[in-house]
Amino acid sequence: MILITGATGYIGRHLVARMVAQGERPRVLVRDLKRAAQILPTDKVELVQGDTLDPKALKAAVQGVDTIVHAAFITADHKESTGNHYEDTNVRGTGNLIRAADAPFIKGLTDLIRTAPVVPLIGGGKTMFQPIYVEDVVTVIMKVLEDPARTNGKTYTIGGPAYYSFSQVIDVLLDTMHASRIKAPAPTALVGVGAAVMEAVLPKPPLTKAAMTLFSFDNTTDKQSVERDFGFVPVSFREYMQKHGV
Ligand SMILES: NC(=O)c1ccc[n+]([C@@H]2O[C@H](COP(=O)([O-])OP(=O)(O)OC[C@H]3O[C@@H](n4cnc5c(N)ncnc54)[C@H](OP(=O)(O)O)[C@@H]3O)[C@@H](O)[C@H]2O)c1
Repeated sequence: MILITGATGYIGRHLVARMVAQGERPRVLVRDLKRAAQILPTDKVELVQGDTLDPKALKAAVQGVDTIVHAAFITADHKESTGNHYEDTNVRGTGNLIRAADAPFIKGLTDLIRTAPVVPLIGGGKTMFQPIYVEDVVTVIMKVLEDPARTNGKTYTIGGPAYYSFSQVIDVLLDTMHASRIKAPAPTALVGVGAAVMEAVLPKPPLTKAAMTLFSFDNTTDKQSVERDFGFVPVSFREYMQKHGV
């Protein structure tokens, strides 16, 4: 599922039109349903009402989403008005969205550990991950925004300071939760069927079809990506879990 924010905006509405023309049904986050009805083909999209400044609304918007196109910004050609402040919308709103989007994967795994006697090691548990703490992501975004002369037009792929196989991610979570579970290798296709069933019957499935796509490749980049470009070492997944718990 793709979520488009700023769908009523210039970029967003064109993107929605293109996706709908391709037969897709994207989810769109809009602030004003009446305005959305004037601009968007509302029968061909999944409408979610919400404001990026309201973290609660974003929880529902990101549920089951694997890709977010974030185009909800106040651009410099608009003057500020009530509810439309550059700093608030562009920095705080973006941070809220990242925070909301960050939770489902780890939260889903901890729910799975809590409810299942056996933890499936999807694809044998070998897929690699490089978790990064959301506050470190926000720090990177702030640094990008603060230094446009250096960052304009650049693309940064960032990740945490260490790689973990899926099996190691589960071990860190089990340690943090003081839990022990049998880990059983499970073919990706089989777990995919399980995820589809959970998604069909549960309002908040611990594993979604979208999350399954993460197991088709290693989710990693250079370990020094943040330090090299932004001059600080992000907190590691293990350290974060020890400090904050699940
Ligand atoms: N326009 C261009 O040529 C261009 C080119 C390259 C890149 N960009 C970039 O693309 C992004 C979008 O630009 P745009 O031209 O599409 O802007 P835009 O036409 O002004 O649209 C902004 C969108 O953001 C939504 N929005 C604003 N604050 C929000 C909030 N707090 N919560 C939820 N939605 C909110 C607006 O919703 P409402 O309808 O409710 O106001 C609107 O849909 C910007 O980062 C811009 O720099 C634009």
